Amino acid sequence: MANKSGYVGSIDQGTTSSRFFVFDHAGKVVASHQVPIQQYHPHAGQVALPWHEHDPKEILSSVETCMNEVAAKLETMNISPSELQAIGVTNQRETTICWDATTSEAFYNAIVWSDARTKTIVHQLADAHPSKSRDCIKDKCGLPLTTYFSGLKLRWMLNELPSVQEAAKNGTLRCCTVDSWLIYHLTGGIKGNGRFVTDITNASRTMLMDIRARTWCSDLCEFFGVPMSSLPEIRSSSEVYGKIAAGPFAGVPLAGCLGDQQAAVVGQKCFNQGEAKSTYGTGCFMLFNTGEEPVLSKHGLLTTVAYQLGANATPSYALEGSISVSGAAVAWLQKNLGIIDDVKDIDEVAGAVPDNGGVYFVPSFNGLFAPYWRDDARGCIVGLTHYANKHHIARATLEATCFQSRAILDAMNLDSGVKLQKLRVDGGLTRSHLCMQIQADMLNIPVGKRVMAAND
Ligand code: G3P
Repeated sequence: MANKSGYVGSIDQGTTSSRFFVFDHAGKVVASHQVPIQQYHPHAGQVALPWHEHDPKEILSSVETCMNEVAAKLETMNISPSELQAIGVTNQRETTICWDATTSEAFYNAIVWSDARTKTIVHQLADAHPSKSRDCIKDKCGLPLTTYFSGLKLRWMLNELPSVQEAAKNGTLRCCTVDSWLIYHLTGGIKGNGRFVTDITNASRTMLMDIRARTWCSDLCEFFGVPMSSLPEIRSSSEVYGKIAAGPFAGVPLAGCLGDQQAAVVGQKCFNQGEAKSTYGTGCFMLFNTGEEPVLSKHGLLTTVAYQLGANATPSYALEGSISVSGAAVAWLQKNLGIIDDVKDIDEVAGAVPDNGGVYFVPSFNGLFAPYWRDDARGCIVGLTHYANKHHIARATLEATCFQSRAILDAMNLDSGVKLQKLRVDGGLTRSHLCMQIQADMLNIPVGKRVMAAND
């Protein structure tokens, strides 16, 4: 933590953009910069297997651009970048990169968390297991077999890419999530002894970590055919991993790492068992703190590590309900249907009608996530009549996230045996007052943003 006069930096590498923020000791943003990320959808139009990729080099260069721009802004305020006490990383989770230890070049694009190409592998692996169940390894890793997690994406790369197969044989394969890729390069990469580490929250999304032992699990690695030697070292979410090797922030310790949804749990101070937050971004992710013990869901939720704030600290776990498409559905209304000019207009357009007029939208563009886990589901709009118009479709779009959140909350209440009393929210879609009002009405509990206090 920074001293009273210090600053801290935060890299936020998300699905649609990279950002870098510098905060002062009171938690106020002093400077920030954001760069959008190019989305690649190979085989677009094949509804059976929606693919979604990012360029790993662009992931890194976009972060570096953000850091350079922020450094320039700091200089204009007479703040030296070297005054930063520490920099942390938060990132889109599950998105998977395979690279070559001898060159540090990626073998292939990053396969994004929402990519559903691994549907067939999911079914093959489940069918090959004596239980035939998609929950066959849930007891070990806390997660159901679905297209969402890194283990499946790694299996696909090992099946399909000769360069990856070769590197696996030679022992030069490196497999990781976005946090590791960034930390490795920012701490020096191949020329400067970059640190190949991941944090426990990101590791808990791979399906390769034993959720109780919190180490890579040989059985799980064998199940997916992933060489254990290709994986980064698992570290806590708060410790010094290394120092920034180059650029204006050279020498500043990289000292924090959390998957973005877990970072929101910490940011929202959901430190007590029974507290929950929901982040309404590209997707929507509700995490419920279950304390020091992992709780395995019987109702379609995920078990995940929420945070471990220090190498010797006790980790906290969470139950998670993930919705694949949330704010992305509003963006789709703008880009693909053109019924709103800007995502900011959603309240005006959706609020022009008092109800949905019988229209329901299920934006399961790449399958339905929690609590249903239907990788064969695709989006649909139902209930259209002569009376229905764009306002009803816009309203149904907001309701779609709210209905799914309701299903997740019901599952959480059943799994935890505790009724959630209030939900803390953040993320882009929380700017929609209408969406948050619909959400509060549907959940029948208060839904609120947390206002940062000076002593936080
Ligand atoms: O699990 C996927 C999630 O981490 C993506 O978050 O904010 O990039 O949509 P976001």
